[in-house]
Amino acid sequence: MTAPVFCALDTDDIQTALRVAENVRPYVAGLKIGMEFFYGAGPEGYRAVADQGLPIFLDLKLHDIPNTVAGAMRSLTPLQPGYVTVHASGGSAMMAAALDAAGDAAARLGVARPKLLAVTVLTSLGPDDLTAIGQHAEATEQAERLARLAHDAGLDGIVCSPWEIETIRAAVGPGPEIVVPGIRPAGAPAGDQVRIRTPIEAMTAGATRLVIGRPITAAADPGDAARSIAASLSTLIAEGNA
Ligand code: C5P
Repeated sequence: MTAPVFCALDTDDIQTALRVAENVRPYVAGLKIGMEFFYGAGPEGYRAVADQGLPIFLDLKLHDIPNTVAGAMRSLTPLQPGYVTVHASGGSAMMAAALDAAGDAAARLGVARPKLLAVTVLTSLGPDDLTAIGQHAEATEQAERLARLAHDAGLDGIVCSPWEIETIRAAVGPGPEIVVPGIRPAGAPAGDQVRIRTPIEAMTAGATRLVIGRPITAAADPGDAARSIAASLSTLIAEGNA
């Protein structure tokens, strides 16, 4: 049974990534590649992982002027990622430019347009950090504001922390994807994640996809860890709610 989970491959080593990808392939919906792997292993490493046949969530959190982000999307679209992230705080024009460029590049190549997900407020920023960068709204309020901005710009979904799911779902309605990291199976070590939820809690709250890294990748048997996460969601999956 496949769970609506992207397994985060947080490594710069192609062989490690491939080993995990091969083990978890039957149980997850996709693989998340971030800056560490993409900057280290490059497009060649990306292709080696993508050749495993699962959708790729390319989490590069693009944030620059619209023209530059549009160019980045034109460069990334030939890799055919399923999802790419941009920072909502880059603004409406930047998000719209990313979407347009991805659409144009995909049409030209005859491939599916990567879905664009907006990152709202980084969960590493506490209240003092937000004040220090001149952002006086409370984190959830700011995340909601940015989620609305991303939705209005036509983006396909939002990345948010497990405890913002209900607020963001209420703000953007039933359509958009809500992709959620900070997930820990019951009893798993939290590591550096603080405000965690279990897979079933996050899906029940309104998430459409979960990002799970270390509970799978650091397990003695990553395939077995992914299988047991899928099993924990089996009732929701069977009911068509996951
Ligand atoms: O190992 P763990 O399950 O904590 O991995 C979560 C993944 O989600 C990591 O790749 C991390 O960078 C990413 N992420 C996160 N919190 C965010 C955004 C992304 O943990 N707010």
